[in-house]
Parts: sequence; C-alpha cells; structure tokens
Amino acid sequence: SKNVGIMAIEVYTPSTFVLQSKLEEHYGVAQGKYTIGLGQEGIGLCGDVEDINSLALTVVKSLMEKYNIDPNTVGRLEVGTETLVDKSKSTKTVLMSLFPGNTDIEGATVVNACYGGTAALLNAFTWVESDGWDGRYAIVVAADIAAYAKGPARPTCGAGAVAVLVGRDAPLAFNPRERATHAAHVWDFFKPDHTVEYPTVDGALSQVCYYQAIEDVYQRLAQNVKKARGENSNDQPFDSESPDYWVFHAPYNKLVQKSYGRMFLIDARRRRHEESEEKKESDTANPLEEWLTKPIEETYSDKALERALKTVSAKAYEQRFNDSNSASKLNGNTYTASVFIGLASLVDKAGSRGDLSPGKTIGVFSYGSGALATMYRLHVREPTEQSTFTVAKMAEALKLTERLAKREEVHPGELDMALDTRARMHGAGAPYTPVYPTVGRLFPGTYYLKEIDAKWRRVYERV
Ligand code: ACO
Repeated sequence: SKNVGIMAIEVYTPSTFVLQSKLEEHYGVAQGKYTIGLGQEGIGLCGDVEDINSLALTVVKSLMEKYNIDPNTVGRLEVGTETLVDKSKSTKTVLMSLFPGNTDIEGATVVNACYGGTAALLNAFTWVESDGWDGRYAIVVAADIAAYAKGPARPTCGAGAVAVLVGRDAPLAFNPRERATHAAHVWDFFKPDHTVEYPTVDGALSQVCYYQAIEDVYQRLAQNVKKARGENSNDQPFDSESPDYWVFHAPYNKLVQKSYGRMFLIDARRRRHEESEEKKESDTANPLEEWLTKPIEETYSDKALERALKTVSAKAYEQRFNDSNSASKLNGNTYTASVFIGLASLVDKAGSRGDLSPGKTIGVFSYGSGALATMYRLHVREPTEQSTFTVAKMAEALKLTERLAKREEVHPGELDMALDTRARMHGAGAPYTPVYPTVGRLFPGTYYLKEIDAKWRRVYERV
C-alpha cells in the first residue's frame, strides 16, 4: 500500500478568548446555558485585524517552519473555507506568497460551509494516491472565522485554522475504501446575504440535518468497511466502538455527544434487525427497546431517547472523545477547521501520552451544512525508516495545549466588540484600516491585515 495520509498538522487559534461562563452572565442568560447546555468553555476571538487570508498565511507559514518544508517540495495546495472575502480571488492564490520560486502548485479554494476542508483533504489524498502524482507533498488548509449575529447562535462563534501535510508512507494513513459520503439539498445554514458576514441559520433544523448525515454515512461506512474486508469475513461488524478514537465536526460539544449517542441507536436497531424472531420477543431488558422499531423521523426530538442514549454511550464517549473535543471546547466552532482541530487535539493529547500507537484507528466525521458530510477512518502506523514523520513528532511540534493556555482571557463584552469591528469592515468598502485588536496582542508569528488599499487590495504583515 502507498499509505497515503497525514504526515504533519499545525493549528492556529487566536491569542484572545472569552469564557462562556462569563458570557452567560454578560448576556443575562441562565447560568449553565452555554457551559452545560452547549458543553462549551471558551470562544477564540478575531477582530478586523485578521481575516481568512491572514489566518491561512499564519498556519501554513508555521507548518513550513516547524517541519522545515522547502517551498519547492509542495505540488498541491488547497484551501477549504466559508469565510470568503472575495468572490473570485481565492485564498489559495494569496498563500502563493509563501512559495517563492514555485508557481507549479495545483489546487484552489473549495467552498461548502464546514465541509470545504474535508473536500480539499479528499482531493489531496486522491492526488497523492494517483498515477499523476509527481512525488511532492500536498498541503491542505482549513480555516474559518465563525461569526453569528446576536442571538442564540452567538455563543457558538469561534475562529481557527489548520494546515496538514499530505504524502505517502504517512503515520496517519487513509484507506480510500474506508470512507462514506452523504450529500443532500437542505436549507439549514447558508450565506445568501452578502452585506453581512453572518449566516442565515435554522439552528433546530441544522441539528437534525447533522443527525441525518451522521446516520447515513455511519451505516454506509460500516458497509464499505465490510466490503473492503471481503463480504464473507467473520470479523465483528464496524460499529460505534470499533475505532479507538472518534473525531467529529464540533459546532458545540453537546451536539457531538448527542450525535455519538445516535450511533448507538443505529447499532441497536441493526442488531435487532439481525436477531431471530424468538429473541426479539424476549429482549425486554434492552434500554432502547421502545425506539428499536419506531420510524426514525419520530426519534429526533425524543428527549427520553436522548437521555437513554447518553447513558448507554457515556463510557465509550469519554474514552473516545475526551482528547479530540478538548481544544474545540476551549476555542469554539471553527467551521471547516473544526474537524481538523479535533484531530490535532487528539494528536496533541493522546499522541503526547504515547496512546496513539501503531494499529490504533481513528474515525472522523465531517459535516458541512447545505449539506455535505463524509466519515472516514485513519490508521495509526509506524512509517518506514526513510521517513522522518511520526505521530510523536506531530504531537511534539503541535504544542496545542500550551498554545491554548497562553491565550489572554478578555472581558466577555469584547466578543461583540470584535464582531462589530468585523461587521464595520464588511460594510466599509475601500480603503480601510483595521483597528482591533492592536497588533501587540497577537501571538508572535501571526500574519495580520495591515490595510485594504484604495484599489481593494489586501496588504498583510507578520508580527
Ligand atoms: N443549564 C443547563 N442547560 C441549559 C440551560 C441551563 N441554564 N439552559 C438551556 N440549557 C440547555 C437546553 O436544555 C438545551 O439542551 P438540549 O439540547 O440537551 O435540549 C441546550 O441548552 C440548548 O438550548 P436551546 O434553548 O435548545 O437552544 P438555543 O436557543 O440556546 O440554541 C443552537 C442552540 C440551536 C445550537 C444555537 O446556538 C445555534 O443556532 N447555533 C448555530 C447552529 C449550529 O451550530 N448548528 C450545528 C450544526 S451546523 C454547523 O456546524 C454550523
């Protein structure tokens, strides 16, 4: 096997954040609404001094510096984002300023809500796997500033960027047959109004669309894993506890936990379907009994079922998600970057402990409204002796826990203030000079937007 996969991963998160507990107080909502109700602890802030291009520049430059990547050894660079600042010129082209002397780089920017990064990753995997591969690396960037209008969605803001290096002989290998996709036409979250940065969102519908997507891809992935093994294999079916770890797109962690619970319902319904008639009658002890044959559409808003699923999945959830959820709890939703930050968080935590050992597997679920979703499996492996890329090295280079701990906590009022500066920039036209936060508050090595000149060209500098 070519063992195409992830060689390295780097994360960017903002230098300032607000605490959800203080935001509850600030907005005058009931205590626990964001911390327990949404399962979130903090939100990373971006004002107008950063934009999608600066985030992408920062994270790609940092990846290249940490791993000493020669710009000429990169043959593909693709970006996933939904934080568009231009309807034509892609962020991918802005990143070309980091590749002096190399104009031979395929890829563009891919757009579909939180899914663009995964689309870009699958493209990169396919290129590296193909006969057309020229031996060079691919870099995939997933970056977003998640900004919502005032109201119930605002506590699910956040910002972040991830860059991953893709190649062969990877320590996190992707088996192209172990993936499944769900594509549907739904209006759960979209950005039709170009005068504002914010989405038009139906929060309740978006949760159901997320559930439907995960149920669909999960069942399909189980079938695809079975096919990949050979139909007659006697191995245990792929189920919600098969991967050692899971990483889900995390708009807020309550949704991740509830969605994992839904996989236990799917497992129980499949088992019931496979059981003999005789057993069916006697299985009254099953805690999910009353939901095993109910039409699935009737189960989405069933609170008693939600509680039952939480109980049956609790232990497995803790084991498989504690590490991957850690960073997104502290930093919030990051749209396309969310699922990659989840993977980085897992590498940072479990990788540093030595728990991501060869043979372990990671299930990944990516969801983007509209909707597109993919579930795939990564295999942890020991690369050959020629390779310098390992999970241990990734964990060592990331320092994500340290990065998050170094952030400056700011007054909860700064969340609205930061977003107001972004809204002003969005409506201002050109020329424009950003104001928030002052450059001195950014982490060293951060690119920032110095100005939008009179001809609408954006000028970047690095701290
Ligand atoms: N203590 C503890 N829990 C509380 C409290 C409290 N004081 N108050 C409320 N809660 C709980 C509620 O019971 C509810 O829990 P449940 O989901 O287990 O029933 C939870 O907090 C959320 O409260 P709601 O009133 O149901 O919803 P709210 O009006 O706060 O909106 C929502 C939440 C819909 C997630 C909103 O933030 C939103 O629209 N976000 C953006 C959309 C989104 O992220 N969708 C996800 C998929 S698509 C994507 O990635 C963008």
